This record gives sequence, C-alpha cells and structure tokens, in this order.
Amino acid sequence: MDKCVFCLATKGDRSALLDWFGHYKNKSYLVKRLDCYLSQYNFTSLAKIDGQIVGVLQGLFKEDPAMGLVEFEEVKILDTAQRKGIGSKLLSFSVDVVKKRFKKMNIPSRKIFLFVNEKNVGAQKFYEKNGFVLESEVGFLFSDKRKELLYSLDLRQKSHVK
Ligand SMILES: CC(C)(COP(=O)(O)OP(=O)(O)OC[C@H]1O[C@@H](n2cnc3c(N)ncnc32)[C@H](O)[C@@H]1OP(=O)(O)O)[C@@H](O)C(=O)NCCC(=O)NCCS
Repeated sequence: MDKCVFCLATKGDRSALLDWFGHYKNKSYLVKRLDCYLSQYNFTSLAKIDGQIVGVLQGLFKEDPAMGLVEFEEVKILDTAQRKGIGSKLLSFSVDVVKKRFKKMNIPSRKIFLFVNEKNVGAQKFYEKNGFVLESEVGFLFSDKRKELLYSLDLRQKSHVK
C-alpha cells in the first residue's frame, strides 16, 4: 500500500470534501451537512495518500451523548484504493476517535451502529471482518426497493475497553 495517513477532517478539507460529495443534488444542504460533520459534536475521518482524499467516514454522536451511541455514515474508499486495508484502518481510526471523545466527556462508550444495504454483500463482509455484528433487518429505509441491515459494534467488549 502507498503511504496512507488517517486524520480528522478540518475546515481546510472543506473544498475537497465538497468535491467528494459532489453527487449530492441539493448543494446548499450539502454545505450545511458538511459543516455539521466538521463541528466538534460530530466528525469526519479521512484517509489520504499524497494529500489526496482516498477514503471518508462520518460519525454522528446520537442525541444525548450519555447514551454512548454513535452512528457511522458515508463510509467510502475510492474504487482504485479498495481491498488494500485502507477501509479497515479508517474504521479502526474512527472507532478510536469515538472512544477518546466519550472518555473525554467521562461517558462510557456503548455502541457504534450503521446501516448496510442487503445487496451490498462486500460491505457486510467488510464490517463483519472488522467486528461489527448484524443486529437486525430494518426494512425499506433509504429506498423502497432494497432493505437495509442494522450492524453494530459493542464497545463494552473487553477488546474495546481500556
Ligand atoms: C466497503 C469498503 C468501505 C471497504 O473498504 P476497503 O478498503 O476496500 O476494505 P479493506 O481492504 O479494509 O477490506 C477488509 C476486508 O473486508 C472484506 N471486504 C472488503 N471489501 C469487500 C468486497 N467488495 N467483497 C467481499 N469482501 C470485502 C474482505 O474480507 C477484506 O479483506 P481481504 O481483502 O483480505 O479479503 C469499500 O469497498 C467501499 O468504499 N465500498 C463502496 C461504498 C460502500 O459500500 N460503503 C459502505 C456503505 S455501508
């Protein structure tokens, strides 16, 4: 693998992220959403090679942080950079971000959850290989054609508690 670095996105990554999420149809919404995920309450993790973004993962702290619950969204590695372990490292980096934030708030980390489309078998394998477990099928969420599956990672397992 080329030298890949993992970091939290800052305002300096804003323009590159606007390009990354260029498929969003509603641009003013995109800008607001992006800023929301650059705020101190949420986060955007990046994988970069030679300063270029090759992977993104966004994390959303759910409602009252006392729930110890975070949702991962928009997990994607550039097509040309897939199957090189970058996604797994970005996931692990992001799990550490969550654990550190909760620790700083003096709140026990409980769970990270995310949704995967039932047809996206590659992503299901990816999450399972990285410790996530299938909790349940949640039905037609993002589309009326394909169901979503709820996956989660229990942060109370011994391997996660420091
Ligand atoms: C899913 C995704 C993030 C994985 O990133 P990645 O960098 O390719 O993953 P890794 O190289 O760390 O893969 C780790 C393991 O996950 C599994 N895996 C990853 N992609 C897979 C695929 N397409 N098919 C089957 N297994 C896969 C494999 O077991 C892999 O290990 P291996 O390569 O030694 O066999 C990436 O394929 C992606 O961006 N896909 C498109 C967007 C997407 O589906 N995002 C998830 C939405 S919920």
